[in-house]
Amino acid sequence: MRRIILAGNWKMHKTQAEALEFLQGFCHAVQETPEDRELVLCVPFTALGVMSKNLHGTRIRLGSQNIHWEESGAFTGEISAPMLLEMGVTYAIVGHSERRQYFGETDDTVNKRLLAAQKHGMTPILCVGESKEQRDAGQTEAHIYSQLEKDLANVDEKNLVVAYEPIWAIGTGDTCDAKEANRVIGLIRAQLSTPDVPIQYGGSVKPDNIDEIMAQPEIDGALVGGASLKPDAFARIANYQ
Ligand code: 13P
Repeated sequence: MRRIILAGNWKMHKTQAEALEFLQGFCHAVQETPEDRELVLCVPFTALGVMSKNLHGTRIRLGSQNIHWEESGAFTGEISAPMLLEMGVTYAIVGHSERRQYFGETDDTVNKRLLAAQKHGMTPILCVGESKEQRDAGQTEAHIYSQLEKDLANVDEKNLVVAYEPIWAIGTGDTCDAKEANRVIGLIRAQLSTPDVPIQYGGSVKPDNIDEIMAQPEIDGALVGGASLKPDAFARIANYQ
């Protein structure tokens, strides 16, 4: 059985006070959300402590937006698995296109981060996806296959989530057509050796397109940026029809 996972990626948004304010509205709005939908909030490192305390006893799981492969060391600006585990973090986004694009993340470092998360019992959410130039040049499939092959070397697919995030659809309002996202996610699934890996779609997911996205047979959830910052909008996404 493939799990359904709706995850918010807050990116570099929200102070601790703002995070708490979000929770007040959100927790109430997801009280009736079907139990088989997993809800995850991937928040900035600085909000993990306050979120951890306030999510205790709720169904909402906590995620980080990155994870380093060493447990400690001289790696300024990084965060390790033991530090995240202490905060109750169970999911870690790895290889988001913004990390690859702006912070020099490579398939090699993505692979190391995935392995580190799994080694410590956390579930990594691996992001893959093509740029507009790659799509226009007909390289979508080849690019994603290459990412999967390198990123997933020695990775245990039984404890993994993949997010297909076409870069051109992130933060642009230009959502990938639901059927096209379904097609690419089907191709990703065919590349994996474990059929049950949950595969999400990410890129301008909103309350007004989530129903169509979740109606697609290959899509097991969403990784949501902008719309996960508003309690009502993210609750509507969690409560898709
Ligand atoms: P938006 O939903 O803001 O397009 O961001 C998607 C994303 O990057 C989630 O990781």
